[in-house]
Amino acid sequence: MAIETIKWQGNKVKLIDQTRLPLHLKHIVTSDLKTLIHAIKMLQVRGAPAIGIAASFGVVLGMRDSKAKSFALFYKELSAVIKQLALSRPTAVNLFWALERMKNTALFNRAKPVRKIKQALLKESLKILEEDKAICRSMGKNGARLIKAKDRALTICNAGALATGDFGTALGVFYQAKKEGKKFKVYACETRPLLQGARLTAWELKQEGIDTTLICDNMAASLMERGLIDKVFVGADRIAANGDTANKIGTYSLAVLAGYHKIPFYVVAPVSTFDLEIAGGKEIPIEQRSPEEVTALCGRRIAPHGIKVYNPAFDVTPHELIKAIITEKGIIKSPYKVNIKKILGCMR
Ligand code: MRU
Repeated sequence: MAIETIKWQGNKVKLIDQTRLPLHLKHIVTSDLKTLIHAIKMLQVRGAPAIGIAASFGVVLGMRDSKAKSFALFYKELSAVIKQLALSRPTAVNLFWALERMKNTALFNRAKPVRKIKQALLKESLKILEEDKAICRSMGKNGARLIKAKDRALTICNAGALATGDFGTALGVFYQAKKEGKKFKVYACETRPLLQGARLTAWELKQEGIDTTLICDNMAASLMERGLIDKVFVGADRIAANGDTANKIGTYSLAVLAGYHKIPFYVVAPVSTFDLEIAGGKEIPIEQRSPEEVTALCGRRIAPHGIKVYNPAFDVTPHELIKAIITEKGIIKSPYKVNIKKILGCMR
């Protein structure tokens, strides 16, 4: 996989500026916490696992100039940094999961000098990135078992290399299936309002030589009705204890359509995307984004001034519409409440 979305380089975070793709492959290289938080808010770095990785690096950046002489003072500063990062995006639970890991790392090393705690934080963030790479590969292998020769798979948003530390969640399934020599086609929904499908998924799948066709979001029903889609694979931003899944706005419509046309609908996500403290999808916080994302297209206004806008970034697919959830630990099927617990155990 040639795409390296996020990495730690010479005491700085280096990430692909995804708002510039597909026309320009530019990087943001920063040692500044505020710049990193801005990058998360503006979707320069995006996708649940990548947001988690970025946030963990954010903690390192925010704490490395700390002059605290005691753990109590260091922890006070750390809590403030974590609070700022936690406010960057509300839905992808990987953000909070990564911040929790960073907080626990500091607590675990509390008896050490501050210099050592800083080193431990960096080590933990690099571990989160490395673990994500292995997790992507396992999810890919588990999911590729579901791809058959000549399959035509549909996906939405970008759940690929650009959304993770390696080759992605839903798109990782395609990359692995290709590695295994399977021949199949992918249809990518453009994903309004911010066009992650058209800009990012189309870019990375094409680059990796996957047979990909881009469609507008409202074309999915017609494709399904004509028998041109065999399977749907999507990523996730947060999965509740009962399997209800929040993902990019438009995912729920695809699940309803897939259900109507009797097409299997699969979610691909790491264990870090499950939120077992949330019983069902209704409790998942849904990010509302700025009206300009809807009234403009690639910076050009397309709607009248003053028009009212509704712009939720995510929707929730009820578990009844999900055929299986593919994780690095295995494939989870209904009954989700029981089987999610069985596979996850107390691992989070
Ligand atoms: O708003 P975004 O672009 O961060 O939304 C991303 C998605 O909804 C992805 O499908 C999800 O994070 C899974 S990515 C592996």
